[in-house]
Amino acid sequence: NEPQFSSIVLFGADGNLATKKTFPTLFALWRKKLLPRDIVIVGYAREVMNTEEFRKNIVYKAIYSSAHAQRERRRFLQRVHYCSGQFDDAKHVRERLAPLLAKLEQKQILGDCASDDEPLQHRGSVQSRMVFASSDDSDEDVPVPVIPRQDRRRVRVYYMAVPPFLYSRICRSLAQGGLRSETGRDRFVLEKPFGKCAQSCASLCRELASLLREDEAYRIDHYLGKELVMNVLVLRFGNAIFEAVWSRRFVERVEICCLEEVDCKGRGGYFDAYGIIRDVTQNHLAQLLALVAMEQPLSLKADDVRREKVRALRACKVLDSRDVVRGQYDGYADDSSITNKKTTTETFAACKLFVDTPRWAGVPFILTAGKALQEKKVEVRIVFREAPCQVPELRGACRNELVVRVQPDERVYWRVANKVPGLEELQVEPRRMNLMYTHTEVKDMPDAYERLVLEVLRGDATNFVSVEELDASWAVFSPALLALEGTKPERYAYGSTGPSLERLYGSPKKDRVVSMGGSDR
Ligand code: BG6
Repeated sequence: NEPQFSSIVLFGADGNLATKKTFPTLFALWRKKLLPRDIVIVGYAREVMNTEEFRKNIVYKAIYSSAHAQRERRRFLQRVHYCSGQFDDAKHVRERLAPLLAKLEQKQILGDCASDDEPLQHRGSVQSRMVFASSDDSDEDVPVPVIPRQDRRRVRVYYMAVPPFLYSRICRSLAQGGLRSETGRDRFVLEKPFGKCAQSCASLCRELASLLREDEAYRIDHYLGKELVMNVLVLRFGNAIFEAVWSRRFVERVEICCLEEVDCKGRGGYFDAYGIIRDVTQNHLAQLLALVAMEQPLSLKADDVRREKVRALRACKVLDSRDVVRGQYDGYADDSSITNKKTTTETFAACKLFVDTPRWAGVPFILTAGKALQEKKVEVRIVFREAPCQVPELRGACRNELVVRVQPDERVYWRVANKVPGLEELQVEPRRMNLMYTHTEVKDMPDAYERLVLEVLRGDATNFVSVEELDASWAVFSPALLALEGTKPERYAYGSTGPSLERLYGSPKKDRVVSMGGSDR
């Protein structure tokens, strides 16, 4: 179901997200030959520059790596064009973007694109001569052509690498500027943050709903594109053994964490207004919770999977602010990107949640996220109850756990009791039954963004967040966030394990052993 031809318009094309993520992702897909060879990529931003300058000063730098051949970059850059304009100015869309897109798409239809092997048209400095082939600067003075609306194979992706308050303005400009498809084939890639609370998210979604259809919206949560996250549904529903133990009867608690060594330096402008619960827990970790807690979907198609995730999130009890441990690492406010030196924003949070379904009633789901910690680790850990055991030598030998390690060392393992090999008296120790990926598999592990961009082009919304999921997840976190606003988080040492989670676990030991590593080999 690969579209016959497609265009991507990247709004905010010279910004942080575009240069750090979107362009490197597009280039990686291009190198893997996963993008149509005649794809049209148009960067749109306010800065005034021409296509050649954009290719050279922005995109080239964004995709540069000494590991890749210059020729590959050059070919990719040929597909990239630039259009400067205001985001909320329909005139700029009508008079600049529309004609440029139309011209490029017309070429695409006619198969008249610069071929990969087209000889270089040297111009400019030595450096640009080396790098930039066949720049086409006449982009902006072509007449407005007819866009083949009736052509059902055309896919146009509007990628919003801009702050969310611009989404609706851009959509309006596109509509008024004559660039909205009547066949509903447009796809809008939207990035978080989707609001700061239930209310702001709802009003953002409401506004957008009047401008684009829900099936045109691809809201990215890049965790849904991670290999091991995608594996959760396969493991759960593709193996008969799991269903039998996947419930309150056998599971004592579920721990889901995203621990990071990196801090918030330079990101204060965004981070300080949001905090880790809004940045990571409410979206990435809530999505993981939904995948673990949901019931079997009718199929792995978008509607079926998303329906079950919504049900799981809606079944979540509203988070009680007393079930949250918040922390802030020492030195957080010293960074120049943070203006409020008395900030109470949390850089660490552990939240205890309950999914009130027959399957999960009473089982705590502990969602932990934090910055500037001792280690980097993202995982889902299902901690099983201790089984009654009548063999005295084996009683309490080992608490079984099933761990899906999302990163850094992708694997799935069981923690089991195992006999220590040897002739000595019987000894039992916890060991890992490990499903490790081979070197080749790890090397080929696709990047989450690559997968998701590809899925947008394929029109598969399964791994994107629906508006209902957003609503349901905000409903869980919003009241606690409001209640905790302005309260002081606990301080923790930079590079430590974070604040004690004793209050959530009810025991001083477990937070360290289970959340921060595990004693098994
Ligand atoms: C982002 C957050 O969504 O996810 C970052 O804004 C966080 O603060 C990042 O570091 C974590 O993603 P990953 O893929 O590095 O685990």
